[in-house]
Amino acid sequence: MSNYHIKNLEEYFQVYRKSVREPVAFWEEIAEEHFVWQKRWTEVLSWDFTKPEIAWFKGAKLNITENCIDRHLTNRANKTAILFEPNNPEESAQHITYKQLHEQVCKFANVLKSKGIRKGDRVCIYLPMIPELAISVLACARIGAIHSVVFAGFSATALATRINDSECKMVVTSDGAFRGNKTIDLKGIVDEALENCPCVASVLVAKRIDSAVNIKKDRDLWLQPLLDAASSMCPAEIMDAEDPLFILYTSGSTGRPKGMVHTTAGYMVYTAYTFKNVFQYRENDVYWCTADIGWITGHSYILYGPLANGATSVLFEGVPTYPDYGRFWEIVEKHAVTQFYTAPTAIRAIAKESLRFVENHELSSLKILGTVGEPINEEAWHWYNDNIGKKKCPIVDTWWQTETGGILISPIPFSTPTIPTFATLPLPGIQPCLMDENGKEISGKQVDGRLCIKFPWPSMARTIWGDHQRYKDTYFSTFPNNYFTGDGALRDSTGYYRITGRVDDVIIVSGHNLGTAPIEDAINEHPAVAESAVVGFPHDVKGNALYGYVILKEVGEQRNHENLRKEINQIITEHIGPIAKLEKIQFTNGLPKTRSGKIMRRILRKIAGGETESLGDTSTLLNPEVVQEIIENSI
Ligand code: WT7
Repeated sequence: MSNYHIKNLEEYFQVYRKSVREPVAFWEEIAEEHFVWQKRWTEVLSWDFTKPEIAWFKGAKLNITENCIDRHLTNRANKTAILFEPNNPEESAQHITYKQLHEQVCKFANVLKSKGIRKGDRVCIYLPMIPELAISVLACARIGAIHSVVFAGFSATALATRINDSECKMVVTSDGAFRGNKTIDLKGIVDEALENCPCVASVLVAKRIDSAVNIKKDRDLWLQPLLDAASSMCPAEIMDAEDPLFILYTSGSTGRPKGMVHTTAGYMVYTAYTFKNVFQYRENDVYWCTADIGWITGHSYILYGPLANGATSVLFEGVPTYPDYGRFWEIVEKHAVTQFYTAPTAIRAIAKESLRFVENHELSSLKILGTVGEPINEEAWHWYNDNIGKKKCPIVDTWWQTETGGILISPIPFSTPTIPTFATLPLPGIQPCLMDENGKEISGKQVDGRLCIKFPWPSMARTIWGDHQRYKDTYFSTFPNNYFTGDGALRDSTGYYRITGRVDDVIIVSGHNLGTAPIEDAINEHPAVAESAVVGFPHDVKGNALYGYVILKEVGEQRNHENLRKEINQIITEHIGPIAKLEKIQFTNGLPKTRSGKIMRRILRKIAGGETESLGDTSTLLNPEVVQEIIENSI
């Protein structure tokens, strides 16, 4: 039996039991056998969820890029590490071998150093899905700089907030981005953001779309000439196991985005281990995860997890709909992809269109399919299983979060029997539990509650950048001594978990995690708006869409409501990004409130979802009469 690679259900249960009974021995064995360390740890795990303080492999020294790149140079130097598929199918794909990746990462690392970036400095990366994105992330890790990748769909304001929160010294960007048949002026967005970011001293600009951009003297530098001049030798900085590797921002239900901090050794061990098992990766497989590296899925399962296993990982610049709805399948066919990992929203968008986009492609290379980001509905699951997997490829419905660093609940293909809509069983090392509203653990089967994890795992985020108290309050205070996920779940009669969705004010729209508070803050910036409340409602393609209830300052505001709706969405786009735009906006004279003045979102959610029959008791409201008005005017 190997702890590292599970091959059947019996083995899964054996390994799982060991991981719970002897977690230290379990992870120690994996860490010892599958990674390169400069110095061994003195302690595998120390933890205290009350502080909270968590450390894995304390005392160990390593560099994650030695594990993801250098060590493969012996046997896999000419194997493709990153297979870049451009936005435009007419442009040829690029195979970047492990040897080339090593050279390019070292060169980039030397450029970072020459611009004064040192271990511990924060570097913001704001790039489209091009090779420079992967290379700059790894170059930061090479020299111990902390990368903070910001998804290139975020607006200038959102970018500036994130740059300032972690005081990044540098931004890496490009002249622009291709997205389907459009181009996006990334450099312009960076310029606008940097008007409010005094911490940034330099900007490296990759050339992608060949547009004329403004180059600010003494701050902006074209990347390519610097790379050309740089040495391709760069020794890896020796890092402590618990040195931060990166910061990645995620929305909270209230306030500013949270800069989740992930550290080096535990993150590496866990993402590598879970990649190997959840995707049953074999040496000559071609693995493709369609996520953007701007999200945790891309960090863990396009870059670090696959590269730590010496895998070939596809990096796709484009969108599923360009040049047509068959693009994913064209790429699967072209590169003979074996594992394909995407989001339910993408599946639903494609499933709406004609099957001919699927049928004219050869998909027989596929072995395993995956989904992530939101619950997958039964219909989408079957469409995926029937038309893409041809009923032969197990579907791994992987549940996890930015905060968890890696997949926590998922089937292991060919071992765990799958059931649509169930993420099934916890991976080895993961001890989930369900809690009731009074903080008591719910035991047994056929139950539902709030999903918590009671024991640490190696890739859990260690803190929120600059705000440890918020880390404690958000994740460890609702259910003392447990990590609270913010999700609800049910456990069926076989012990399988099904994630039912968020139980807080986070809404998952097309797989993107959005907090209601920052959206409401943006809406309230509109001069005509007095107050607003945003809730989610079910949407065929996006999973959830956003419904905004808006109170205008002037009663009976005479302005054209359609124009106001456009302006409100424009403000949201400026403050957050187009992903946070409201699908529906209802103007109202009031919002249902409790006597303590809290908006009763539960009621608004029901009305937005068309469930006006089951609103429950509204008599305790401060203003019950407003409910009828809202129902009558709902959209
Ligand atoms: C939230 C985390 C983890 C990478 C992408 C999202 C929801 C995620 C599933 C799934 C049901 C899921 C949860 C979670 N979620 N995967 N397989 N089934 N829900 O990361 O942006 O941090 O969002 O996404 O609600 O809490 P994220």
